[in-house]
Amino acid sequence: MGKVILTGDRPTGRLHLGHYVGSLRRRVELQNQGGFDKIFIMIADAQALTDNADNPEKVRQNIIQVALDYLSAGLDPAKVNIFIQSMVPQLTELTFYYMNLVTVQRLQRNPTVKQEIKLRGYSESDDGSDNKAGTPVGFFCYPISQAADITAFRATTVPVGEDQEPMLEQCREIVRKFNAVYGETLVEPEILLPDNAACLRLPGTDGKAKMSKSLGNCIYLSDSAEEVAAKVKGMFTDPGHLQVSDPGKVEGNAVFTYLDAFCKPEHFEKYRECFVGRKSSFTFNSLDEVKAQYRAGGLGDVMVKNFLTAILNETLDPIRARRAELEKNIPAVWEILRRGTDAAVAEAEITLSAVRKSMRIDYFDDPELTGMGK
Ligand code: TRP
Repeated sequence: MGKVILTGDRPTGRLHLGHYVGSLRRRVELQNQGGFDKIFIMIADAQALTDNADNPEKVRQNIIQVALDYLSAGLDPAKVNIFIQSMVPQLTELTFYYMNLVTVQRLQRNPTVKQEIKLRGYSESDDGSDNKAGTPVGFFCYPISQAADITAFRATTVPVGEDQEPMLEQCREIVRKFNAVYGETLVEPEILLPDNAACLRLPGTDGKAKMSKSLGNCIYLSDSAEEVAAKVKGMFTDPGHLQVSDPGKVEGNAVFTYLDAFCKPEHFEKYRECFVGRKSSFTFNSLDEVKAQYRAGGLGDVMVKNFLTAILNETLDPIRARRAELEKNIPAVWEILRRGTDAAVAEAEITLSAVRKSMRIDYFDDPELTGMGK
């Protein structure tokens, strides 16, 4: 059995730094290390529709944006298959069969579903008076559809952010249940989380728990250098750090969390001038030294923010340059998606055939049943 990656994103907007450190950067590394036989990256449009049924245009327009983000971040179509979820009908069929192996109560206990229902403000009751009331069934069931996504490609490894942990747990349960009921058929996947705590859940620029488009606290991979500088300038730091001379807090300070996620040893030499000021200057050789000075007082937010801006723009410059190139030939990007989707359909069909066989619903292939071709 080979090593296979499947992961993906909902196309509801452009991808941001949270996506980048949470999963995208890792995918590019895994692709380049070459330790996997196959890598599938899915643009989860069908999942995006589960809470955007009234706005398919948004999903439609963002498919190409996510594809551009993927390719400009360094995913290489020669090494990975990028495809569109809804164009692989086998996923829908698998979902329908898996639904019988999951209870309503188990879905209700899924912490991510619970939290997302709250976030979207779906009310507890639907008495028919308000068409916004209640939770859409498709949305409620998306962990099942996600299990179909993963198992269809016989994925062994799913690189995702921490918020997806309950999805993976539920997928593994479905696999075990299926194999117990119908015989060994599906592959049980492992989650692959970021190894750096800051990357597990990158806070928004407002310091809130998560970078998220709906909270308007994102830095996008496609933001210009000026936009990045302006967003970092406005970032949440330590509200108690009023004077430069005051001691500052590093914990819960989004600027330092971003530095934990992005700063590399070579940045101290490279961006030394960020810490040279009119009133005071510092020479730092590690992030620990920057933190210690900030805690002690005397180091202002502006210097630390300038340092972060330099690092973020160094990371994003090549991504922006590749995006500008790719944007010149959008049909070529759609062609990459079409090819990736064709390959994904072929792969998912192998699993679906095995599933139908194990469930003994492959009627026409069974001469014992039909007497055909005997
Ligand atoms: N739920 C993921 C997200 O929030 C997208 C997704 C859909 C996914 N199916 C998946 C991720 C399967 C990993 C594996 O972006």
